[in-house]
Amino acid sequence: MAEGNKLRLGVNIDHVATIRNARGGGLPDPVRAAELAARAGADGITAHLREDRRHIGDDDIARLAGGIGLPLNLEMATTEEMLQIALRHKPNACCIVPEKRQEVTTEGGLDVVAYDNKLPSIIDPLKKAGIRVSLFIDADAAQIRASSKLGADIVELHTGTYCHAHHDGDSVAFDAELEKLATGAALADELGLEVHAGHGLCFETVKPIAAIPQVTELNIGHFLIGEAIFVGLDTAIAKMSRLMDEARGGADL
Ligand code: PXP
Repeated sequence: MAEGNKLRLGVNIDHVATIRNARGGGLPDPVRAAELAARAGADGITAHLREDRRHIGDDDIARLAGGIGLPLNLEMATTEEMLQIALRHKPNACCIVPEKRQEVTTEGGLDVVAYDNKLPSIIDPLKKAGIRVSLFIDADAAQIRASSKLGADIVELHTGTYCHAHHDGDSVAFDAELEKLATGAALADELGLEVHAGHGLCFETVKPIAAIPQVTELNIGHFLIGEAIFVGLDTAIAKMSRLMDEARGGADL
């Protein structure tokens, strides 16, 4: 269960690297964004080292793991290469995500039920190395139970479909997705899993998710980096944190 009422904000800085890589060279530097996020009140930094290195690169992970003063959550696919990188840099947590080469972003959660033969060879060495293991899944009871059975510490519930329903103005789908996320969070918590959520969240969609009491961390990237163009990253993070606090009742934080 969540400690007190505190909800942490993990800031995903992948898309600072997307802009850098559009031109090559070193600017803008995602590590500078991570340092700024720390000063603006972020509770953690998330970065996804993709197999094709389309945004974050190996050197970024080395620098982020080397000391930004915040826990690093490394998102990674279930490959031996990623496992070795994680074991080398020892982030605070690894969030295992499905990865397809052609996708624009992570579409849907990891199918833990289908993968459960392969996952122990990734989860067990990470846990042995003292790295917390998170599985990025849809809020589906079978996926949550399978995650618990495999010994994951955390499940991160995929909020992408919920966010799409909001942007499509489909209130029936929105309510159904929110209900699914709330029910999933309660089940995961009951099974002793820490509950995180993320994908596609913005100022308009964050509050109902932040109000789910079992959720202890939100990981938000694309919207915050986009908003930073207009208001600055520190202002965008401060506003997101304020909305999260308001959703939790704003008290004892
Ligand atoms: N959580 C996970 C597991 C993700 O893969 C992503 C996207 O990299 C996010 C959170 C953040 O999503 P967004 O960039 O849409 O806020």
